[in-house]
Amino acid sequence: MTQYDAIEDAFKRLFDVTPAICGFTPGRVNLIGEHVDYNGGRVLPTALDLGVTIALSPREDGRINIGSDSFDDIAKRGMGDAASEHWSDYITGALQLAHSEGFGPNGADMAVITTLPFGAGISSSAAITVGVLRAARDLASAELSDTEIAVLARKVENDYIGMPCGIMDQMAVAIARPGQALSLNTETLNFDLVDLPKTHKMVVIHSGVFRQLNEGRYKIRKEECDAVKAAAGRDDICRMNDDDLNALKHLPDAIFRRARHCVTEHRRTMAATKALSEGRLEDFGALMNESHISMRDDFEMSVEPVDALVADAQAFGATGARLTGGGFGGCIVACVKNEHINAWQDRLLKAHPEAFWVA
Ligand code: GLA
Repeated sequence: MTQYDAIEDAFKRLFDVTPAICGFTPGRVNLIGEHVDYNGGRVLPTALDLGVTIALSPREDGRINIGSDSFDDIAKRGMGDAASEHWSDYITGALQLAHSEGFGPNGADMAVITTLPFGAGISSSAAITVGVLRAARDLASAELSDTEIAVLARKVENDYIGMPCGIMDQMAVAIARPGQALSLNTETLNFDLVDLPKTHKMVVIHSGVFRQLNEGRYKIRKEECDAVKAAAGRDDICRMNDDDLNALKHLPDAIFRRARHCVTEHRRTMAATKALSEGRLEDFGALMNESHISMRDDFEMSVEPVDALVADAQAFGATGARLTGGGFGGCIVACVKNEHINAWQDRLLKAHPEAFWVA
């Protein structure tokens, strides 16, 4: 049974009719370039095979009914509802925005099947938001590009959910495809697609530490970067040169280290993108390892169990390994040679029984 048969079946069981539209949106894993997407930097995410499949039929009575196999309640929402810290917020916010932008219906019946764990840092929320906006666009044959859909999806997160994220996740899930990395300039939204190597796999392992990005620590990092922007008098703090950065040494030490992470992470991402496209995987891996150190020491977005998992991932033979996503838990990503994968994974998961394989 394909994912589309499964979602159609689920929708028919819930609502007794065939859905008007079905769609799949992948999750993403970021290979390198963390917390730079709201600071003018470059990122390098890739799409996963895992993702969110939705089926949707429009309504015009202001009601939203959502059934899902992965959440045990049927959510009944109204088009005017405010966010309520429920998983259905992303759908409600996306439908509200699509409607107010003039291309979405005034309500919907929906079924959702997701293979993406929530709170893992692999963009389940971006996938569902982009999926709903795209379904509304396609139903209305509205002339909106995938980039414009990603920008709207970020607006849902920023304005409706209250999560001050950057644009990486929405662009990644709207545009990237498995097997290719999206080299994205988050200032201009210009991008290139870079083929992933056939000799290595990008492995995603959950640390077992669950966290929600809207629980506050992401926002604090964003505010610290805002302080850097105010001191530097520019928004694209990732693109500062060494002199610009050194001129910020008078700032409190933690704020200076946030700035240094932004600058070095952006440079590492550019170097890693070049290394990847030239097939220099050892160099690519070394940059992943350096990125982890910067996230741990300068951006202080890691936690001890993640550091331990990354250290063993590297020690057990990964070409490179680092924390990925918003931080404070969630997943690591490792670049591992095909022939090492099985032994590497067995050893790593044995040493970290709370960790588990995601993709
Ligand atoms: C989360 C946010 C992104 C990005 C990453 C960190 O995934 O949604 O915008 O800031 O964290 O790189």
